[in-house]
Amino acid sequence: MGTLFSNMLKGDESLFTNPDALDFEFQPKLLKYRENQQFAIANCIKPLFAGRTGRNVVLVGQPGIGKTLAVKHILKELDEQTDEIVPVYLNCWQKNTTFKIVMGLCEALNYRLTHNKKTEELFEVVKRLINKQGAVIILDEIDKVDEQDVIYTLIEEIYKKTIILITNHKEWLTELDDRIQSRLAPEVIDFPPYTSKETEGILRQRLEYAFVSGCWDDEAFRKVADKTAAVQDIRTGLVLLREAGNAAEDKGSRKVMPEHVDTAMQKLNLVSVKSSDDLDNEEEKKILELAQSSQEMRIGDLFKKYTGAGGNPVYKTFQRRIKRLETKGFLVAKKVTGGADGTTSLISYRNMGKKLTEF
Ligand SMILES: Nc1ncnc2c1ncn2[C@@H]1O[C@H](COP(=O)(O)OP(=O)(O)O)[C@@H](O)[C@H]1O
Ligand SMILES: [Mg+2]
Repeated sequence: MGTLFSNMLKGDESLFTNPDALDFEFQPKLLKYRENQQFAIANCIKPLFAGRTGRNVVLVGQPGIGKTLAVKHILKELDEQTDEIVPVYLNCWQKNTTFKIVMGLCEALNYRLTHNKKTEELFEVVKRLINKQGAVIILDEIDKVDEQDVIYTLIEEIYKKTIILITNHKEWLTELDDRIQSRLAPEVIDFPPYTSKETEGILRQRLEYAFVSGCWDDEAFRKVADKTAAVQDIRTGLVLLREAGNAAEDKGSRKVMPEHVDTAMQKLNLVSVKSSDDLDNEEEKKILELAQSSQEMRIGDLFKKYTGAGGNPVYKTFQRRIKRLETKGFLVAKKVTGGADGTTSLISYRNMGKKLTEF
C-alpha cells in the first residue's frame, strides 16, 4: 500500500485507550497543584482525630478548578485512615431542601428505616448516630440550597464536626444570614484559577490516561491547553480533548491535529468569548485598544506601536499575549507567507458587537 492510506485508522482501531478518564467525575490518583488548599482543609479536620470538634470551612472559587476533586481526595484519605469519623458528601444542586439533605445524611450513615418519617424525626436519628463519633460533612454547591436553615441546624446539633461548604460565588458567604455566618465562623479557603502551566499539566495527565500514546500532535494539544487556560475551566479542556479525538477518528486520522481541535471548538461554540471582563490582564487591554484603533496590521508594526506606548519590550511576551487574545476570540491573526517581509501575521480586531450582546 502507498502512503496515501498509511496514516489512516483501520476500522477497528481507536485513538482512545480509556475514554472514561475524560469524564468530569474521573478521579486521577494524583491531585496536583492544590497541596496548600488540601493541607488547609486537613488542618481544620485534625481536631476530630483527637476527639474535639473541628473547624468549619468554606471553599470558594470559579467553576472547574478542582474544588470538588480536592474534597473527594480528602474523603478518600479519611476513609482509609479512620472509622471514627463519618464522611458525608452531598451536592446541594441535587439535594436542595432540608428533607433531601437529611435523607442524604441517613444514606451516608447506612440508616435505611426512613420510610414515612418526618424531617425532624430523621434528623434526630442522624444526630444520635453522628454524635457518637464525629463527622466531616461536605455540602457542595451550597448556594443551590433552597433552605439555608439546614446549615444552622447542622452547626447547632452536631457536636464534633467539620462542615465544608463549597461555592462558586464569593458573594454567597457575605450574603449569608448573619446568625448562620457568626456560628459557622469558617476558615475561607480560596481556589485561584490554575496558571497556564498548571492547566497544561492537568490536561496532559488526562490525555495520557485516555489516549493511545503519541497520537496527539503538539500544536493540537497546545491549542486545547491555551483555550482551557483562557476560559479557566478544566472541564472545557476535557471536552475539547474528547471531541477533538472524536473528530480525528471520524476522519480516520491516526493523529489528532489542530484542525480536529478547530472542529471541536466550533462544535462547542467556543470561538466566541463571553465578555471583555475576561480580559484580566491590563497589558492585554492595552494591546487590544491599539489593535482596535486601526485596520489590520502586521504583528511587527503592532509591537512597535505597543512599545511606543510604553508596553513591555520583550517580543516573546508580546507574542504570547497576542496568542491569548486570539484564543479568547478578541483578535484574528492571519498568517501570510512570502511577502516582502517574509512570513508574518496580520492582526486585526475581531468585531464582536453582536456576539457580545448575545451572551
Ligand atoms: N489539580 C487537578 N488535577 C487533576 N484534575 C483536575 C485538577 N483540578 C481539576 N481537575 C479536573 O477538572 C474537572 C473539574 O474539577 P472540579 O473539581 O469538578 O471543579 P469544581 O468543583 O471547582 O467546579 C474535573 O474533571 C477534575 O477531575
Ligand atoms: Mg464542583
